[in-house]
Amino acid sequence: MNIHSSKIECVDEPLVLGTDPIPAKYYYDADWYELERKAVWMRSWLNVGHVCELPEPGSFIRRELEFAHASVLIMRGKDGEIRAFHNTCTHRGTQLTDAACGKQNTFSCPYHMWTFGTDGALISAPDFERFYTTKEAQALKPVPVDVCAGLIFLCFEPQQPLREYLGSMAEKLEQVPLARATTYQEYHYDIDANWKLTYDNFQENYHLRFVHPRTAGAGGFGEGNQFGYPSHFSINGIHRTQTIWTHPAPEVPPAMSTMFMRGVPRLMADGLMDLPFPREYFALFPNLFLLCNPGQHFLHTVLPLGPEKSRGVIRLYWVGDDETASTRYFREASMQTARDVHSEDVDIIRAGQRGISSGAIEHIHFQEKEVLCRHLIEVVVEKVAEYQAEVGTG
Ligand code: FES
Ligand SMILES: [Fe+2]
Repeated sequence: MNIHSSKIECVDEPLVLGTDPIPAKYYYDADWYELERKAVWMRSWLNVGHVCELPEPGSFIRRELEFAHASVLIMRGKDGEIRAFHNTCTHRGTQLTDAACGKQNTFSCPYHMWTFGTDGALISAPDFERFYTTKEAQALKPVPVDVCAGLIFLCFEPQQPLREYLGSMAEKLEQVPLARATTYQEYHYDIDANWKLTYDNFQENYHLRFVHPRTAGAGGFGEGNQFGYPSHFSINGIHRTQTIWTHPAPEVPPAMSTMFMRGVPRLMADGLMDLPFPREYFALFPNLFLLCNPGQHFLHTVLPLGPEKSRGVIRLYWVGDDETASTRYFREASMQTARDVHSEDVDIIRAGQRGISSGAIEHIHFQEKEVLCRHLIEVVVEKVAEYQAEVGTG
């Protein structure tokens, strides 16, 4: 293992991370999962939404983050600031709301009617004189939150500010038009697989020709690159990117080209045809993928639900409403295409987990072109080692 995996900055150097096989227990062991939970998940900045979901003062979204046993309310205050708080009344802990999103200026606890403002302050509480505390001391408990490129990130125990955490990725993200998005479509899936096994499936192309012969065959692989390996990859500290290979003569199915052509006028009008990093696939530690191309701003996050269970959230972001039927058609078809490809992945990921969880193999092996997967696990191992050194269990 390379002890400095999280400090590496390089392009196309697969051997920089070594060639060792990886212990399979990292992908199912409950004790290891608990270490990851504390060392990685509680300490990492995680994308939980987009500013377009909080258009006005009082707009809020609720996020359930199972790894932290937390329900979090992210809201825009009267002053326009975005803040996040535990969805936990400071009287006796009752959750303030079970609404997924909405708009309101105050949050009243249903139990004894303590009422909080969008800045977290306790505004009123019935018969409060009988308590042995002050309203100031009973404000909602905040969760650190920040925004980059329109994406809302939160972190329960930040070790550094968001910008520093994102490193060189922050500047790149700010060049893509994601911050301008005003709407999105989403679907999520729960899967019986460790979060890394789920995530790794989307950062290697080795499986494309076997799992996606129909859907990814048009542009995913071909002569000269029979596995559709990326043209380049980079390691950027804890994060990484790959440049998706461009098929020299893609055979695009007629339905797909019709779909794309219908969207083109709108994309041109929105200035979204000529984008920076059009083939760049960003993989932000620990769990985010982002691909901005003229067709769609594709975002995918994977969250752990346990050692052998995870949840993926896939979003396509758009600029502007569906002004024409063609725009609607284009957007719906883009989402359905993403779902089609994804539906081919799910069963194979589950099958991988079942095999690994059996304990039949002690190690897994990453080849030269699966370096992004290797980098993820190496950074995780490094974060766990740092954590253990700090708390004295290493
Ligand atoms: S628990 Fe919320 S007001 Fe009592
Ligand atoms: Fe796949």
